[in-house]
Formats: sequence, structure tokens, C-alpha cells
Amino acid sequence: AASLPDTYTLRSLRKSDYARGFLDCLRVLTTVGDVTEAQWDERYTWMNTQGKGGYYLLVVDDGTRIVGTGALIVERKFIHNLGIVGHIEDIAVAKDQQGKKLGLKIIQALDFIAENIGCYKSILDCSEANEGFYVKCGFKRAGLEMAHYY
Ligand code: ACO
Repeated sequence: AASLPDTYTLRSLRKSDYARGFLDCLRVLTTVGDVTEAQWDERYTWMNTQGKGGYYLLVVDDGTRIVGTGALIVERKFIHNLGIVGHIEDIAVAKDQQGKKLGLKIIQALDFIAENIGCYKSILDCSEANEGFYVKCGFKRAGLEMAHYY
């Protein structure tokens, strides 16, 4: 497996990552908006209290700022004997840090968590342009995404 560059660490998201550019890292993915620190604190606290055990947010820290992130959301089901499913969401690597295997390391870490907490599968939605990346991460095309935007 590829290793991270020397000064980089892959770890769980912390509340203090607001000040380390976590939201800016997500901006390569989509619109983030102007999230205040108070709003951040509230959502972060919700994920770690009411949502506890359901949200695994990882970051890559290069020693100065957040340069990569990814999330595993755990869905608890009745089917498959009370099975649990991992949803991989919001994978983002800073533009100037892409191509260094950071994305791959994030997916491998999320996959490891999913398997270890007992998920029977992990699934995600992506564009055709990103299919090759996820194939290299061990995923295969399955089904068709549908959306209803509100
Ligand atoms: N198409 C085909 N292959 C790709 C692509 C791609 N779009 N991106 C990377 N790869 C390949 C790499 O070449 C590498 O192959 P190799 O092992 O043969 O050298 C392998 O996949 C691993 O690549 P990484 O270096 O780990 O990829 P990177 O760190 O650049 O992260 C990512 C990829 C996350 C898609 C990044 O480009 C990014 O942040 N893009 C913008 C945001 C985005 O689209 N995120 C994904 C949304 S889908 C979701 O969140 C579920």
C-alpha cells in the first residue's frame, strides 16, 4: 500500500479543524457556503452526540492545513439480519495535492472502518469522470443513481 508523505497524517476530524481549512478543502467538491464557527460547532457536536456511531469523518493534515477528507456514514437496517451499510461521501483532495494517492488512502481507511464495524458493503455515488478512481480503490459499478432535488 502507498504511504503518506512524511509530514502528513490521516486522522479523525476534530472540532479545531474549522481553523485548519477543513471547509476550504471541501470546496473542490461543491458549494460549501459561509458556515460560521458557531454553526460548525453545532453540526460537529450533533454528529458526535445524536449521530454518534454513524459518522466517521477523516482528514489528511499536511502539518499546516487540511488537504484531504472523506466520510463514512453508517446506515442501520432491518434487512439482512439488521445489517449495516456504509455510505462513502464527500471525498475531496485539495487541487494542488491531487495525484499523490491521498484519495486512495482516505478510501482505504474508510473501507477498513466499514469492514471492522460490520458493514456488509460500502456504496457511493460518483460522476463518470471519477469512476476510474473508485475502480482503482476496489469498487465496481452497481446500479444507477437517481435524485430528487428540493
Ligand atoms: N479517473 C481515473 N483515475 C483516477 C482519477 C480519475 N478521475 N483520479 C485519480 N485516479 C487514479 C490515479 O491516477 C491513481 O492511479 P494509479 O494508482 O494507477 O497511479 C489512483 O486513481 C489513486 O489516485 P489518488 O492519487 O489517490 O487520487 P487523488 O488523491 O487525486 O483523489 C479525487 C482523487 C478524490 C477524485 C480527487 O481528484 C478530488 O478531490 N477531486 C475533486 C472532488 C471530487 O470529485 N471528489 C469525489 C466525489 S464522489 C464522492 O465523494 C463519493
